[in-house]
Amino acid sequence: MTDSRPIGVFDSGVGGLTVLRALKAALPTESTVYLGDTARVPYGTRSAQTVITYAVNNARTLVKHGDIKALVVACNTVSAVAIEALRDAVSMPVIGVIEPGAEAALQALSVLHSVHPSSMPSSPSITVLGTQGTVRSGAYARVLALRGHAQPTAAIACPLLVPLAEEGWTTGDVPALVIDRYLQALPADVGVVILGCTHYPLLKDVIAQRLAIHRPGAMVVDGAAATAAATAALLQEHGLCSPAGATPIHRLLVTDAPQQMAALAPAFLGETVDPSSIELVDVIFDAS
Ligand code: DGL
Repeated sequence: MTDSRPIGVFDSGVGGLTVLRALKAALPTESTVYLGDTARVPYGTRSAQTVITYAVNNARTLVKHGDIKALVVACNTVSAVAIEALRDAVSMPVIGVIEPGAEAALQALSVLHSVHPSSMPSSPSITVLGTQGTVRSGAYARVLALRGHAQPTAAIACPLLVPLAEEGWTTGDVPALVIDRYLQALPADVGVVILGCTHYPLLKDVIAQRLAIHRPGAMVVDGAAATAAATAALLQEHGLCSPAGATPIHRLLVTDAPQQMAALAPAFLGETVDPSSIELVDVIFDAS
C-alpha cells in the first residue's frame, strides 16, 4: 500500500526546519507541508496547557490546509507536553522528537561505553538542554527511565540560545560565553548532552567545543536524524509510504511574517526559499 499525501510537520516557528531538513534527506520521495506558528512563537516560555491548545490548533490547521497522512511534531516543547492530546485530536499517526532524541542519546551512551575515554566516569549520565517548558516537563527523563536508563537525567533551560540561533550568532565569543554559563550546571558525571530544542543544532559546533572544555570526552546528540528515521519506520508500519519514484512537493505555511521564515531558511533548512512561495494561513481553532 502507498499514499502520496504529504507528511505534516509543525513547530512554533522556524526551529522545526532543522527536523524538516533531516526528513527531506531521509525520505526524498515524501511530500511535506510544514507549519511554523510564527504568530504565537515562542512556546518554550508558555504553560503546558497553552502549548497543548496551540499544538492542537496547529494539527487542525495542517489537516485543513494540507490533507496530511501523518504528523511530525518538530518541536521539543510541544512533544514534551502535547503528544497525547494530539493523538486524541487527529486520526493519523503522530510522532514527536523526544523519543527519537532519547533513543539517539542511549545509542551515544553505548558508543561511549565501548570507547570509554579515560576522562569519563564508569556510568556516565545524560543531560538535556532545552526550553523552560521542555525542562519543566521532565519528558526526556521519563522516556529515558522507561527505556531502562538508571542514572538521573539532568535538564538545563537555555532560553538565550533560541534568539542567538535566530540572530545568526552561532560562532564566536557571544554564544561561547552564553553556553559556558549554561554548562556550569552540568553534572560532573555527564557523558551525553541532548540538544533538546530544534533551534540548537545551529549551535551544535560551539556547544561541542565548549563541552569538550568542560567535560572532555562527552558527546552531543541532536534528535533530528533519529526523528526522520522513526518517521520512515512509522510510515512503513502504517502502509503510508509514498509511491516509489514519486516527485515530492514541499509547502511552507506560516501564521505570520513569511519573509522572516524566508530569511532564516538558509540557516535552518539549508536552502534558500522564495518568500512569495511561503503561504500565510489563519490558525484553525476548532475541529469543525
Ligand atoms: N522549537 C522549540 C523547541 O524545540 C523552541 C522555540 C520556542 O520556544 O518556541 O522546543
